[in-house]
Amino acid sequence: MSNLVIVGMQWGDEGKGKIVDLLASSADAVVRFQGGHNAGHTLVINKKTFKLSLLPSGIVRQKLSIIGNGVVLDPIHLEKEIREITNQGIDINFSNFVISSDCFVILPIHRYIDSLRENQKKGSNKIGTTGRGIGPAYEDKVSRRGIRFSDFKNIEELEEKFISIYNHHNIWIKKFEGKEISYENDFEKILKCYHNLSKYIDDTWLLLKQLNDKNKKILFEGAQGFYLDIDHGTYPYVTSSNTVAANAFTGSGASPNYLKKMLGITKAYTTRVGNGPFPTEENNDVGEKLGKIGNEFGTVTGRKRRCGWLDIVMLKKAITVSGINGLVLTKLDVLDTFTDIKICTSYKIDNQIFEDYPSSMSSQQHIIPIYETLKGWKEKTKGITNFKNLPLNAQNFVNRIQSLVNCNIDIISTGPERNENIIINEVFN
Ligand code: IMP
Repeated sequence: MSNLVIVGMQWGDEGKGKIVDLLASSADAVVRFQGGHNAGHTLVINKKTFKLSLLPSGIVRQKLSIIGNGVVLDPIHLEKEIREITNQGIDINFSNFVISSDCFVILPIHRYIDSLRENQKKGSNKIGTTGRGIGPAYEDKVSRRGIRFSDFKNIEELEEKFISIYNHHNIWIKKFEGKEISYENDFEKILKCYHNLSKYIDDTWLLLKQLNDKNKKILFEGAQGFYLDIDHGTYPYVTSSNTVAANAFTGSGASPNYLKKMLGITKAYTTRVGNGPFPTEENNDVGEKLGKIGNEFGTVTGRKRRCGWLDIVMLKKAITVSGINGLVLTKLDVLDTFTDIKICTSYKIDNQIFEDYPSSMSSQQHIIPIYETLKGWKEKTKGITNFKNLPLNAQNFVNRIQSLVNCNIDIISTGPERNENIIINEVFN
């Protein structure tokens, strides 16, 4: 048994898509277990770019791709994404793509509420959501109002569920908008999507058990990143699901016994989209430069990402809580032209030094980062595939991170192409 979970260690956009794609070549199946089409994974294969939001990254390699029960799924979006990826020459059929029948459905009203709420919030109270209905869909799930694919077996009962969801939300919508949203059109639309998607729907927990029993290799693909986790992240500036590695089990029905390797992905610096604390943010020329070289624009929303230095305090918590036993350091080449490179090693809050990430929002907003400054390498590392070929200062940077977080860096990504990596340890064999 050598299954693997891959999760982001920061605020998402760590380059997980590329790493999942790289490792998917050794996998038999790739599983999404949380989030929805708020995620955005860009894969560059033979200079061809694939943009995925909901489909597991393994689909591009024609691996068995599974959407687990922990995902909230917008059927209208999924149909569109399937069409786009199919038009790029990828074959998607019921033998290589399976959706859990326990998956909760994002309805058009969820997307509507998401935008409405964000528009009502002022300034820094805005979360900066992707506006895709993720939060409202998870809320309905937890409130036991939600609709799952398995509910489509009984159309009469399904319609009643639709009516009760729309009635529930219309109380609030009417108060703010002076009008109600009728369910009929949306019901027809979603029903039509379901008929097109039903060939993919199955009991995925059982499929995972069968795969594991046959010693097939399963890769669990996380979306977003540790600090967007609903419990462990920078609440309330988070997404609505658990992004930690442990959710690979609850979000897919896989047993915790299936897993032994938890791989954490971190950039060589930090980025964030949306509002919320960001202790090492460089809201200046340095941040601009990181963003420009790193092409830091959101895959889903196109928003400019906030940029700053690598934060070891944050990384240590993410490693601990997710049980990470190997790291991937991405975008090392983005730092190639910097004379000095900073790493945040501790925090000062109200004149006290902290080695661990504080949980209160007010402390998080008053962090003064304490940095260690390393010499830059001022040489091209893009495309290097051997650690010994890295400039000495780049090697020092990598080694320093490893010793500060006490965790191996197994892979270093040195460019967007699939083969631009330094494989230090084989993680999936
Ligand atoms: P939501 O997930 O759309 O509700 O957005 C909540 C927060 O998570 C916002 O700050 C988003 O920008 C952020 N977010 C959601 N998905 C991603 C992602 O895939 N990458 C980076 N940030 C994300």
